[in-house]
Amino acid sequence: MKYVFVLALLIVVGSAGLMGVALVVRFNDNMTQTPRVMPGERVFPMPSGVVPRGGELVIPKEQRELAAKAPNPVKGTADSIAIGRDRFATFCAPCHGPEATGGVTGPVATKFIPPPDLTNAELQKARTDGYWHSYIVVGGAVMPAYGEALSSEEAWHIVNFLRSLARK
Ligand code: HEC
Repeated sequence: MKYVFVLALLIVVGSAGLMGVALVVRFNDNMTQTPRVMPGERVFPMPSGVVPRGGELVIPKEQRELAAKAPNPVKGTADSIAIGRDRFATFCAPCHGPEATGGVTGPVATKFIPPPDLTNAELQKARTDGYWHSYIVVGGAVMPAYGEALSSEEAWHIVNFLRSLARK
């Protein structure tokens, strides 16, 4: 009879101990094992066709033809061109050169792919405002996208600035 009691006591103490260990392990580990998002660890793609609040539809570069048809909503006033010039100097001149003449006029272009001369009259004629706006927002063949750094409106200002550089 005594052995049965000791055995029962062992089982009770044993399982209490196990539960205690499980508790400690969970307490120590679970806080780091729960599903959570670390900054920069994952990128959440926007479902296609959605419009961010306060933003506008971004047409992917695969649909450039469609984007090229978008009319320029910003008038090419002196103010618009001035903003465009300012943003161009910050974001584009490193590759395209301060006058947008391309080649190796930009310091980055000497180590990267020399971009085309954007003042070229033929290129200016061949491209619509919407096409260039799309180029700025979602990027080109190798040119990076600036949709995150610049608002859509700023991109139109840059297009207006580029138009003001057109060589006759
Ligand atoms: C990292 C270098 C780099 C930066 C920065 C850059 N570009 Fe480009 N861009 C290129 C290269 C290279 C090309 C040509 C190859 C291509 O089409 O991707 C190009 C092409 C273009 C074209 C020509 C599209 C056409 O009609 O064929 C336009 C317009 C343009 N860039 C505008 C801009 C503007 C505006 C900015 C600033 C917001 C900018 N780029 C920033 C490298 C750059």
